[in-house]
Amino acid sequence: MNGRKDNIISPEAALEMKAAVSEVRRHTDALRRDGKTPRAYIMTFGCQQNEADSERLAGLAAAMGYEPADTYSGCSLVLVNTCAVREHAEKKALSSIGQLKHEKNLDPSMIIGVGGCMVSQQHRADALKNSFPYVDFSFCTTELWRVPIFVRDRIAGQKRRFPDVTSSLADTDFSEEVPVLRKSKTRAWVSVMYGCNNFCSYCIVPYVRGRERSRLPSNIMAEVRDLVESGCRDITLLGQNVNSYGHDLDAGVTFADLIRMISALPGDFRLRFMTSHPKDATPDLIAALAESRVAAHQFHLPLQSGSDRVLAAMNRHYTAEKYLGIIRELRAAIPDIVITSDIMVGFPGETEEDFGKTLDVLRAAEFDMIYSFIFSPRRGTPAERMEGAVPDDVKSSRFSRLIECQNAVSRAKNEAAVGKVLRVLTDDTFDDADDKTGRSDGGKLVHIGKEARAGEFYDVLITHADTFGLYGNIINT
Ligand code: SAH
Ligand code: SF4
Ligand code: F3S
Repeated sequence: MNGRKDNIISPEAALEMKAAVSEVRRHTDALRRDGKTPRAYIMTFGCQQNEADSERLAGLAAAMGYEPADTYSGCSLVLVNTCAVREHAEKKALSSIGQLKHEKNLDPSMIIGVGGCMVSQQHRADALKNSFPYVDFSFCTTELWRVPIFVRDRIAGQKRRFPDVTSSLADTDFSEEVPVLRKSKTRAWVSVMYGCNNFCSYCIVPYVRGRERSRLPSNIMAEVRDLVESGCRDITLLGQNVNSYGHDLDAGVTFADLIRMISALPGDFRLRFMTSHPKDATPDLIAALAESRVAAHQFHLPLQSGSDRVLAAMNRHYTAEKYLGIIRELRAAIPDIVITSDIMVGFPGETEEDFGKTLDVLRAAEFDMIYSFIFSPRRGTPAERMEGAVPDDVKSSRFSRLIECQNAVSRAKNEAAVGKVLRVLTDDTFDDADDKTGRSDGGKLVHIGKEARAGEFYDVLITHADTFGLYGNIINT
């Protein structure tokens, strides 16, 4: 850390980044003069934080003179942004990195960089170095801004670069000067903080993303203002635990203050955020949402388990009763709020009784939707060494029962919207011209037939519903 309490890299480091961007730019300009088109492909795994980081990688690639590509074939630069949250996520990333070997054989000048959460574990960074000789460099989650330096060094023929993860993560400042190339014009991610201090006992994120670091309110406000002025209609503020926003700064601005400041901006847009930790979802935050003109009526509040014993072993710092209390407060303040959650089954020691309590909370909370997960042991986390591993067949059976229970609730919740008029923002592009889709204020998927234009708000009369979405007709065109 630089001691200035703004979490930003030093001016010297920022100059080094910019110099590297210019040097790579000279190289890509030379390629163009030779009649080639240098392209870059960014492959992204994992959560919205990674999506947001990849838009910064895309911004850097564009500044270095690479055209964006939608496949890695024929690219001069490929950046892979990995996830480590469950074993499956790591396997997917490793298999995609494996496929790049063939591409590198076809074009040995292709530069391949692998970053993100998976390679921010020393054993993965080492494995990449030793077993994937065609990978040119690897970078931790905290050193995105160094990517141009690594690309420049490889172009100049310097040796492959792999991080010493401990020191790269300890060096956790970020840059506000990394450009962003966004995928969507109407929806945007805005990271408000990086890292996590919570150390839930199953979770790898605090180990691979480092300690909590908030961006200055002035920088966030400038980014949000620019987005709204350029026509963005749906903004999601991102952080692993947004309720801790600002605790590491001297700015005296809490997350609820930030919501109020953004809500005071002029313009027609929606504001969302994720993720909020139940242990510190404050009444002030709920009040700020209820007062806000732009805050979407949506709240994602991960439960994980409905058993107090399991919650304690998970190091979550709340009980099922406290959790249900927050749900009640949210619904009292904002009656039509859409509430979603994350739930995990098969945590070590989870008994049938514990799982039954999760189902009880699920029924009581009446979530609109859940993201459900099977516990996956992560190397170096406390839960990896806990006793009472749940057998695979029990885990899968609980997983199916969880989904079955929730599907019935989701369907009933969606059916309750039939006959109502919802404001829907249509997607930027449509996968199917006959089935145009958008999102309601609460974030629900709405199918609206043929006549909608992309990226616009419509009032939609909901005519029917199923477990996974709503269907309706536009009533104002
Ligand atoms: N910071 C966010 C979520 C981070 S990861 C939060 O605290 O809510 C997203 C979800 O993945 C978690 O909510 C959890 O349900 C799930 N998850 C995290 N680690 C996991 C693991 N080891 N096995 C299975 N699911 C996991
Ligand atoms: Fe992981 Fe818990 Fe942090 Fe979320 S709050 S990222 S689950 S450690
Ligand atoms: Fe996100 Fe996966 Fe990292 S869920 S924070 S990309 S471990």
